Amino acid sequence: MKVVALLPALALVAACSQGAREEDQLTVHDVMVEQIDGNADPIWEITNTALDDTAAIDPARMTDEQWAEVEKRALGVKAGAATLAAMQKLVVIKAGEKISDQDVEGGSSPEKVQGHLDAAPDDFRQFAGVLEAHMGDLATAARNHDAAAATPLVDQLDGVCESCHLEFWYPEQKAVVESIRQKNGDDPTT
Ligand code: HEC
Repeated sequence: MKVVALLPALALVAACSQGAREEDQLTVHDVMVEQIDGNADPIWEITNTALDDTAAIDPARMTDEQWAEVEKRALGVKAGAATLAAMQKLVVIKAGEKISDQDVEGGSSPEKVQGHLDAAPDDFRQFAGVLEAHMGDLATAARNHDAAAATPLVDQLDGVCESCHLEFWYPEQKAVVESIRQKNGDDPTT
């Protein structure tokens, strides 16, 4: 807003009376993309290259730098999850932006996701809290170079992400996903 330079006092009054401007609003989408997904992907990339025949992390294939990177990224996801858990007002996305798959058949619109959030905001915060705790444990395991502790935590991470997505992003797919999970013991979403 160019007006701000000309009329600072007025702009200040306007900002106070309207609360935070739309562009200052922190959204679930921003946290998800930048802090959560952006930090989770490198964790999988690093650990995937260090798996042994039993799909466990082989400590011999992990360098000190890689452990340090896993710890740093785990703390990044943890911080994002803590931000989500503490958000007073859950806003999916800024007006005019798009979420993943919204234009795909069966994909959810931001309005739909917003409806799910508004219906159970405390449940959402709980799911975020579960991710936060999970990532705290992974950060500790990485700091201790503890492959035995890190393996199941990395293994289960997808499921922690997915359980929240099935409640709030695309709950319409919950029944299908769960019936496949039960039939094969497989998770079709991973
Ligand atoms: C507390 C609930 C919750 C948890 C936990 C969660 N997500 Fe999400 N995620 C959402 C919601 C709601 C959306 C839909 C809104 C959106 O797409 O931004 C979403 C969307 C996404 C998207 C699509 C972003 C886009 O471009 O629209 C990605 C990628 C994603 N999550 C990755 C992850 C990963 C990886 C994890 C686990 C490390 C995770 N999420 C954990 C709630 C969660």
